[in-house]
Order: sequence, then structure tokens, then C-alpha cells
Amino acid sequence: MADLDEGGPRVPFTRSPSHLAAASGPVLELRDVVVRYGAATAVAGVSLQVGEGEAVTLLGANGAGKSTLLRAISGLVPLGGGAIRYGGRDLARVPGYRRARSGIAHVPEGRRVFSSFSVRDNLLMGAYSQGQGVEARLGEVYERFPILFERRGQLGGSLSGGEQQMLAIGRALMSGPRLLLLDEPSLGLSPIAITQVFEAIRRVREEGVSMLLVEQNSTLALEVADRACVLRTGKVVLEGASQAIKSQDKLLRAYLGSPGRDKAGGKENGKEVVPSQ
Ligand SMILES: Nc1ncnc2c1ncn2[C@@H]1O[C@H](COP(=O)(O)OP(=O)(O)OP(=O)(O)O)[C@@H](O)[C@H]1O
Ligand SMILES: [Mg+2]
Repeated sequence: MADLDEGGPRVPFTRSPSHLAAASGPVLELRDVVVRYGAATAVAGVSLQVGEGEAVTLLGANGAGKSTLLRAISGLVPLGGGAIRYGGRDLARVPGYRRARSGIAHVPEGRRVFSSFSVRDNLLMGAYSQGQGVEARLGEVYERFPILFERRGQLGGSLSGGEQQMLAIGRALMSGPRLLLLDEPSLGLSPIAITQVFEAIRRVREEGVSMLLVEQNSTLALEVADRACVLRTGKVVLEGASQAIKSQDKLLRAYLGSPGRDKAGGKENGKEVVPSQ
């Protein structure tokens, strides 16, 4: 099997999306992906794509399978069925650490910064390609998140929730990702911190990094993302352009509520595809 190209091509985050327009094929393609935890099926046949430079948001109620899907993409849980292709290559036999090296960066739920390491060391741990590029990348991350520069000598654990989320995103950016997987970046943050974190996400997105964004805050997520996929009990039940999904407010709220609570407007097992205007 051909190796993933671990040296690049990456998307330096100073590059504009126009450089990406000519790229062919999606960055990420999931086909009928199934993930099981023992006898329980958490993801039950999900197909979706993320194009080059595109941001897709994955919405859904608690337990819908969103985090599990991100874990399957980054190789933290094994596939129970289906296929994941990244940059046109099948990831089936590619271990997680090689997926990370090839440009898939995962910012997990709950941030997970190293609390007894300094901010700077946390960032350096995100850099896969060691060498002279690292200092430049560090500079870019500090430029994007001036607060991390100010706090660079401080321990990760002493940062506020919003600062820790920025650190987690900054650490992911240190690897020069081509695909950023973000799991609930707004979770547990104050409204001001959410605004700041989403402003940072928007800038990363504008610079052309492809993104799969899991969020419970659908309003914010739909503002940032080009397209949305709604998961319910492990299946895609609604998908379309963010603008179109936004206009389906009632249906969206029904799907984002607790499973089985409100079935208004949606199909039970089918997938609703909302056409773009
Ligand atoms: N390690 C695990 N072992 C067993 N079951 C798990 C495990 N992790 C998740 N699950 C189950 O898989 C299903 C999907 O969980 P997942 O964490 O992917 O949902 P989610 O959409 O991210 O939810 P949330 O919005 O609460 O984060 C749930 O029923 C959950 O209980
Ligand atoms: Mg989750």
C-alpha cells in the first residue's frame, strides 16, 4: 500500500483558500462508517465528505456518536465497518500517530492540555515535524493567539477555560494540519470565551484549513461552517449547506433535542437532504 505522504503537502495557515481551489477530490471521505463499543453501535453507517478548504459541522444530541466519529477518523477507535479516505487514501491500516503526522489534527472534547507543562511546551508537543520550521510555527500561533504569547511561561493548568481551549487549538495548529477535527470547542466556556474561541476558529477556517467541527452550539457552528451534518443515534439524519440547515430551525431543534423526545418533521430512519437555495 502506498504510504501517506507524511512530509506534506500541508496547508500552511498563512496560505489563502484560493490556493486550494484547484485541488481535486475531498480531503476526507467517510463511506458507511460503523463504530462499535462492544455490543453497542455508536456510529451506524455514516457517509460524509469534507472538501479541501471546507468546514463541515457535525451536530447532534448527546450520545449521537459525534465524538466517536472524530475518534475513528484520527484512529483512536477501530472501524467496525465502512471506509475512511483521507487525501484519496484509505486509512484502514494507517495507525493514529501516522494519521497525525500526515496532517489530521484532533482537538478532543474537554481540551486536555498538559496542566503541569508550560504553555510553550504544550505548543511544542503539537509539532510533529521537528526542526527549523517549529520556531516559525510557534511564532504564527503566538500571532494568532497573543494571549498564549503573554502566558507562554505559565503552566497549562493555570489558564482559564477559554485560554486552555485556545492552547488546545494552537497545539493542533503546530502540526500544520490539513484537516482539523474540533470536538465541542465551546463546551463549558463563558460567553466571552466562546466568542473569542470561535473568532479564532473562523480565522483558521478562512485561511483554508479543512475542518470537521463538532458542536452543540448549532447557531455558532452554522455561522462558521459551509455545510452541516446532523447525527442522531449514529446516523446522518439531515445534511445540507449551513444556510439551508439554518432555515430548517424546527427540524434542527427536534434533532438536537434528546433522542426520541420530539420527532416532529423528520424521517425516523431516512436522511433529510436540505437543498441549497
Ligand atoms: N468508551 C466507550 N465505551 C462504551 N460506549 C461508549 C464509549 N464512548 C462512547 N460510548 C457510547 O457511544 C455513543 C456515542 O457516544 P459519543 O461520545 O460519540 O457521543 P457524542 O455525540 O459525542 O455525545 P456528546 O454530545 O455527549 O459528547 C453513546 O451511546 C456513548 O454512551
Ligand atoms: Mg462528544
